[in-house]
Amino acid sequence: MLLELIATCCLIVSFIPLLASVASLVSPLLSKKLRVPCIPRRWPIVGNAFQLPMNRCHIIFSEWSKRYGAVFEVKLFNEKIVVLNDYDSIHEALVQAGSTFAGRPRMHRTDQKERCKNSIVWQTYTQKLVLLRKEVHRSLKMYGPGLQTLEDVCKPELEFLMDKIQEMGNKPFDPSGIFFDSVCNVMLYFLLGLRFQSCSREIETIREMSKLFNETFGAGDGKRLDVIPWLRFGQNEETRRLEKALGIRDCLWDSLVKRHRMFSEKSVIGHLQTLKGEGSDIDDNTIKECFTNLILAGVDTTATSLSCLILILLNNRHLQTQIQMEIDRVFPDGSFPALSGRHHTPFIEAVILELLRYISHVPLAVPHSTLENASISGYHIDAHSTVYMNLWASHHDESVWPNPWKFDPSRFLDDRGSLHGPQHPSRKRLLVFGAGRRVCLGETFAKNRLYLFVTVLLQRFTFVPEDPGTLPEVDPRSYDLGLVLHPKPFRVKAIIREQKS
Ligand code: HEM
Repeated sequence: MLLELIATCCLIVSFIPLLASVASLVSPLLSKKLRVPCIPRRWPIVGNAFQLPMNRCHIIFSEWSKRYGAVFEVKLFNEKIVVLNDYDSIHEALVQAGSTFAGRPRMHRTDQKERCKNSIVWQTYTQKLVLLRKEVHRSLKMYGPGLQTLEDVCKPELEFLMDKIQEMGNKPFDPSGIFFDSVCNVMLYFLLGLRFQSCSREIETIREMSKLFNETFGAGDGKRLDVIPWLRFGQNEETRRLEKALGIRDCLWDSLVKRHRMFSEKSVIGHLQTLKGEGSDIDDNTIKECFTNLILAGVDTTATSLSCLILILLNNRHLQTQIQMEIDRVFPDGSFPALSGRHHTPFIEAVILELLRYISHVPLAVPHSTLENASISGYHIDAHSTVYMNLWASHHDESVWPNPWKFDPSRFLDDRGSLHGPQHPSRKRLLVFGAGRRVCLGETFAKNRLYLFVTVLLQRFTFVPEDPGTLPEVDPRSYDLGLVLHPKPFRVKAIIREQKS
């Protein structure tokens, strides 16, 4: 009798995996939901890998969406990825579906040093993540008097930047390096409460680290480490880069902590240090990861936007003149532009919004994962599926943005030159910072800092190309894909404008 019972139990247990897979196939059918269409010509083992050059995958996904629809699935070796390619599907996933799409997938790259358990960017949707987001948001203080702090911190940094550009005289220079230094110093002040020299060892290290992390953790070539299992063994370029990136990060963090131990309580990292303690989820590794996330997410994105804007203005001189006319009207005595001026400079606001749309330089956001079974545009998506939000495709969708490859700030302006309100379709459909539970933590910070840098730079200088014949492509389809898209390097001359007093 007992043996019979055990045998029956074993039989039932051995059927569970089979029943589970049958259930997962049948459940979408029962609920009349379709399976997400797969990109055809999947090969055994490699799936769609041979059809998808990873360094251009955002562009290829956009092309496929015109042929196969806005929602489709690709398979890269063992990993299946659902890609959402238009505003409706992305908005449905990020905003209407609540927290269902707020997870992050497990990836080999982010499993290293348990980054997926401690980081903000790479951690799935847990209570710890919600706490970290709340505390970082609170300590960035991007409201009320906090905005004055941003101005106060940016001012000396911008004055230093202006002096540096002025020292160049008539000599051409690559703007990306000096923009990186200034933006990085503002970020370091918010994170640690410290200022560094622009060519200090710390800033040089962050520059190197940023380049390596960008190449390693993006959706481009670095993705191969997740999907091609044998790359993880032995020495190869991808593994070496991953190890180097994490090694440099650890050295930088150890030396900062050794020298300063506790950071100012007013700073983001100093605030997190005060929350450390018994029973708390926040430990030293978590704080190190948060520092890494914020310094990498908060510098390269903004510094690259500034470089791209200069490149665009070199190709559109009339826009530069229009911006300068608005600056001279609103800050007539050459006074330091203030954030309170934002309401009076609709053209600059429109230029910044169009810049972020046009370059869409975080093209696939950060990979999401479903926490439970879900549905998008009537398609069933299994729990724990990896989902890419193709912001790039959505921001260059011809049916929403006529002539999408034209840089045209008037998309965001009405007939009288006023900025469209936040509820206008052009504003609502711009999702450069993502949306919902995993929306970028630095959205307000980034927009305000970008505004200050743009207005101060163009108040003081007119930018002209070193030689118009040597400028790289301005079209973002030619930019290199990492986590962030970068234009090819270029050089520029800055001509000092006469101060009107
Ligand atoms: C132009 C500048 C920036 C752009 C375009 C940008 C864009 C994005 C995007 C698209 C995401 C992914 C959202 C998603 O997962 O769906 C993201 C995440 C994030 N960003 Fe930004 N970002 C910018 C600046 C910043 C700044 C200045 C900071 C820090 C102060 C920052 C911190 C973060 C963090 C921590 C996350 C991860 C949020 C999470 O996973 O919960 N970003 N950003």
